[in-house]
Amino acid sequence: MGLIPEEIIQQVIDRTDIVELIGSYIPLKKAGANYKALCPFHNEKTPSFVVTPNKQIFHCFGCHAGGNVLGFIMKHERLDFADAVRLLASKAGLVIPDTDPRAQAKDDLRRTIFEANEAAVEYYHQNLVSGKEPEVKAARDYLKSRAVGLDCVKRFRIGYAYDVWDGLAKELRYKGFSEEVILKSGLVVVREKSQGFYDRFRGRVIFSIFDYRGRALAFGARALKVEDKAKYINSPETLLYTKGQHLYGLNWAKDAIVREDAVIVVEGYMDLIRPVEAGIENVVASLGTALTLDHVRLIRRYTRNVIMLFDMDTAGQTATLRSLDILLEEDMNVRVAALSDEEDPDSFILKDGAQAFRDRIKLALSLFDFKLSRLTAAHNAQTIEGRARICQEILPTIDKIPSEVVRDGYVRELARRLGIPEEAVSKERRRLGAKTAAKAGSVEEEVRHEPRELLADEALLLRLMLMSPKWVAQARTNLLPEDFKDSTVRTIVEKVYELFGLGKDVSAAVLLNAFGDVALRSVLTRLAQEDFVFNDQPRMFADCVKRIKGFRRKEKRQQLREQMKLAENAGDSQMVRALQEQFNVLIKG
Ligand code: CTP
Ligand code: MN
Repeated sequence: MGLIPEEIIQQVIDRTDIVELIGSYIPLKKAGANYKALCPFHNEKTPSFVVTPNKQIFHCFGCHAGGNVLGFIMKHERLDFADAVRLLASKAGLVIPDTDPRAQAKDDLRRTIFEANEAAVEYYHQNLVSGKEPEVKAARDYLKSRAVGLDCVKRFRIGYAYDVWDGLAKELRYKGFSEEVILKSGLVVVREKSQGFYDRFRGRVIFSIFDYRGRALAFGARALKVEDKAKYINSPETLLYTKGQHLYGLNWAKDAIVREDAVIVVEGYMDLIRPVEAGIENVVASLGTALTLDHVRLIRRYTRNVIMLFDMDTAGQTATLRSLDILLEEDMNVRVAALSDEEDPDSFILKDGAQAFRDRIKLALSLFDFKLSRLTAAHNAQTIEGRARICQEILPTIDKIPSEVVRDGYVRELARRLGIPEEAVSKERRRLGAKTAAKAGSVEEEVRHEPRELLADEALLLRLMLMSPKWVAQARTNLLPEDFKDSTVRTIVEKVYELFGLGKDVSAAVLLNAFGDVALRSVLTRLAQEDFVFNDQPRMFADCVKRIKGFRRKEKRQQLREQMKLAENAGDSQMVRALQEQFNVLIKG
């Protein structure tokens, strides 16, 4: 991928309306010329998140996050700058010219496979909803027997694949997809003996897997009968889909996860569909695998609080334990919920109802309690050997916790629970090569920063400049960047001057792209978001310039006085005279 041309970035900003964009993620409420909302980037009860349409920026007075449309997308979707530009460009129907034709071709192929997948979702779904054949009726009956009605089928776009060799292949060809695209979608299987291919999924209920943006990635196909050899047949890995990189249901659950500030991770399709239907919507499914680093990074865009709810069978518990370590390493807060043996969320809710399910979620154990209870069930804590085994197995997990304070707390707790001296546990921990130093800074976390106190005149002047380029022009002829004492303001002013000199747009929305520093971006959006209610801007401008100049002169005088004193003490009369002259010029100016 080459560098994204600057005009594209400018066009993306021009063509994306910040109110429309942010409003598509969170509810915005009009407040005067601005819009207000509960900040999506921190937890709050009263709105301090302000969107300013005439500046095309947002600023949160609670956590001090601020930015333009790209900044919002980067933060909300956890994308890097280039991907944020790409996303908004595609929303705005802009084509980003690519310098590398191979990358371009691959992008085109990916896009077309997405389209083919979408056509397949719709085809399977229509089969199930409108098909009149006995096999479709059987599929509907099967779903009904699992308490999946028509509304649910529609909500999750569940489908049915006919028990024929080329139902979907025909459909995709008819829709104009090339053989290459059909093959690479993974929806068909190449014939070994003769030419061509046949449908991968036949005579099964189809669950479609979407990415967080709702684009169809892959499919899982469930057998209707228990006799069927394979309960599920899944899409192979494709250009779009890698096992372990996506979470089923995230496209539907995103908002609820943010709202609840927590996500419940389950194993299967039905384990997700059931609670969501029952009104518990912050659920995603890992589709039968332990959580991967990719999963955790996806989740972290929305919350740090994870409740694991895997089956109680051995496979489920092994996956839970493996997931825990990765969640810990990534500094997530994890709890583990448990159902009765032989139950999964789907069967549990059908049997005991949504409230019982919510109660189980409330009862979720801390990771430490969960692991310790598993270990005390497996090893006899009454014996010395048993206690040693428990220590050996739980200490490596404890040592994955990034916070030293929390780690030490758990070591103490472990000693107490096992009824052994804390020192013995610590010794064991050292013996196992536990890291005692805190882990190096966790990933890309933006520390919440307090707003900087700015020098009033300098801040005011910058606000004027952000309101109209007219003031940039005038400031440039009156003040140098060095005249600004505040380093943040000075950095911004330098950039404003530079862009203005090049004849470029110097609005806040565009300026923001030039700065990666969060504190600086925050200053910029804070200053820019507020227009003056009073109107004598020329007077205000003149006053600011005068005071800043006066301040600089005073400072310079002070500096000269000190230098003169030094020169006098050193007996350097020539130097004293030179400085005196400078001093006189300064006073007159
Ligand atoms: N899975 C799979 N292939 C299999 C078995 C399971 O891909 N042969 C995945 C599916 O995504 C499934 C998840 O692992 O949803 C959990 O498996 P399991 O608990 O066995 O199935 P359930 O989700 O309970 O399926 P169902 O309720 O339809 O019986
Ligand atoms: Mn099940």
